Amino acid sequence: MSKLLVSLLLTLGTFGVVHAEGDAKAGLAKTAVCAACHGPDGETAAPTFPTLAGQSEAYLLKQLTDMRSGKRKTVEMTGLLDKLSDQDLADIAAFYASQNVSVIRSMSN
Ligand code: HEC
Repeated sequence: MSKLLVSLLLTLGTFGVVHAEGDAKAGLAKTAVCAACHGPDGETAAPTFPTLAGQSEAYLLKQLTDMRSGKRKTVEMTGLLDKLSDQDLADIAAFYASQNVSVIRSMSN
């Protein structure tokens, strides 16, 4: 492989990291406050709170971004996302997306 190609690939790899892939493990630590309503792993049987576990990461990230900016208004979550960075939101989205919804509960719903 040519040196140029190698350095190009390395550069692309670095960009991948900089452009903040969500880190599910880091996300877990950032969801303590969310657990009260959404459950510790993002699964809830309560009809008032959406289950976040297993939803698409891209969808979750979009909702979180829209909620933080106020584009999507969620009274219950007022102020909760204000201090979170783009990386925080990406980590949280990755965390919930990586959780499994229990089959029994989703069948009984
Ligand atoms: C006081 C309860 C409460 C807390 C705490 C809370 N949420 Fe929510 N959340 C809600 C409610 C209620 C909705 C649904 C709002 C609606 O009907 O649009 C929601 C919706 C969402 C959605 C959109 C789900 C979907 O299917 O569109 C996401 C994502 C979310 N919350 C993430 C979080 C995160 C991350 C935290 C912690 C930083 C958090 N929530 C803390 C009550 C809460």
